[in-house]
Amino acid sequence: VTGDDVDPALAFHGDREVSADLVDLAVNVRTAPPPTWLDAPIRASISDLSAYPDPTVARAAVAAHHRRDPAEILLCAGAAQAFTLIAQAYAHAHDAARPRQDSGSRPARGPAVVVHPQFTEPEAALRAAGVPVTRLVQGPETGFALDAGARAALPDDADLVMIGNPTNPTSVLHDRGAITDWARPGRLLVVDEAFADTVPGEPESLAARADIPGLVVIRSLTKTWGLAGLRIGYLIAAPDLVERFARQQPLWPVSTPALAAAIACATPRAAAAERAIADELVAARAHLVARLAEIDGVALAADPRSSFVLIRTAVPARVALREHGFAVRRGDTFPGLGPEYLRVAVREPAVSDSFADALTKIMAAR
Ligand SMILES: Cc1ncc(COP(=O)(O)O)c(C=O)c1O
Repeated sequence: VTGDDVDPALAFHGDREVSADLVDLAVNVRTAPPPTWLDAPIRASISDLSAYPDPTVARAAVAAHHRRDPAEILLCAGAAQAFTLIAQAYAHAHDAARPRQDSGSRPARGPAVVVHPQFTEPEAALRAAGVPVTRLVQGPETGFALDAGARAALPDDADLVMIGNPTNPTSVLHDRGAITDWARPGRLLVVDEAFADTVPGEPESLAARADIPGLVVIRSLTKTWGLAGLRIGYLIAAPDLVERFARQQPLWPVSTPALAAAIACATPRAAAAERAIADELVAARAHLVARLAEIDGVALAADPRSSFVLIRTAVPARVALREHGFAVRRGDTFPGLGPEYLRVAVREPAVSDSFADALTKIMAAR
């Protein structure tokens, strides 16, 4: 599917499902308050707000955390800003190539491909930058995994590919070799790893790989650390790409409190805490999955590896769940999914139990 029209479904996000009277299973941000080692430096940074932010220390800290060079790191106002920078830089290069396109019969650039279903913002950012998008849609028949057929379906001349790993909303963790097989000189290979830290040990992360041509890894600090309102994330890429994307950034894009958070989240202590959270999540997710397996008319749509699960219900259940007090993320605004799909955040077992009880009642009444 190719199109450069505006699609309002792409602008829908889980926070729109949430209201004060509902249990929030729609947004994939941890709701636990930030630990003291994170909260304290963010608060302390408030006394430095008269100075413009200087990212040097935070950039070096993030680089050391991933064993990369600071020149390979670009701090951003959340992972979401990285999509915009990449889209604008790509569109800029595309425009620069246009005279060549007009004078010859071959397009100067190949298609920009977005692998779906995934977070809708990468496609939305490309479209907002005027870039036509080609969708590569994974289906339920392969459990939304990147199988050989999907890999072969990528157009040879694609010069931009965007994929999430683990993927929102399917929670599928792709084999990183299947992704790096797509790398080519001259092609941008963008891997959104906003949820990579939810997988213990991050076995499929590409964050440490400096040897893959065109690779751009995007990371977020807003999910695990419950900092969605602070806006902090970063991308990791070769220095020439980092420079290209940085040229699209507004001045002082990351605030001083957000830089303080980035420094705090890059310490060995933070890494250990992150690992403990990921381990706890595995157990909490197993509990949710076991409860869901007991419900007639409900199936897992894919093998979940992150902090949410994608389910398929025999009849659409989103509205009924709201009546029972639960906000879940609708599936039908994701390309490739329909109203029978729901994304459910993994929360503590007691919350999953009440959710499963409500869904059991809804399915029994259908
Ligand atoms: C897969 C994915 N990537 C990136 C983001 C954006 O994250 P951030 O809050 O760091 O901008 C989100 C937010 O929902 C997401 O789900």
